Amino acid sequence: MKNYIGMAFLALATLPFGAAATTPQGDPAAGAEKAQSCHACHGSDGLSINTMWPNLAGQKAGYLRKQMIDFRDGRRTDPVMVPLTTNLSDQDIADIAAHFSAMSGVARPVPKHY
Ligand code: HEC
Repeated sequence: MKNYIGMAFLALATLPFGAAATTPQGDPAAGAEKAQSCHACHGSDGLSINTMWPNLAGQKAGYLRKQMIDFRDGRRTDPVMVPLTTNLSDQDIADIAAHFSAMSGVARPVPKHY
């Protein structure tokens, strides 16, 4: 019994290191550089002015990362987003996710003509 507890503790203690090895740390400053082309639609403050382009500001980094990987790897399809994510590395994606996630997510009103 004692051994099982010890093994469970060991497994838990090594978990964060295992996760860090597969998921790159996101750098928001590097992400700001890499996201220049994204700002045209998603806004330089992460808030879009078009009802068909989602706000990314303040969104959880893990969610943003998953969506970008899904577009890139063909699990999520969109004629606009798939080509834009094709050449992004896992590190690029982590950086861009950190960049948008660090922004304030306070939405501004969408202009009436959209
Ligand atoms: C031409 C406009 C346009 C550009 C440029 C653009 N996007 Fe998008 N993005 C969209 C649209 C439209 C969607 C919604 C796609 C859908 O309906 O599935 C979207 C969706 C997303 C999503 C998913 C959001 C969610 O809530 O599920 C992420 C993440 C994203 N874009 C990141 C990026 C990144 C990173 C870039 C730059 C490499 C970028 N986008 C450039 C139009 C754009």
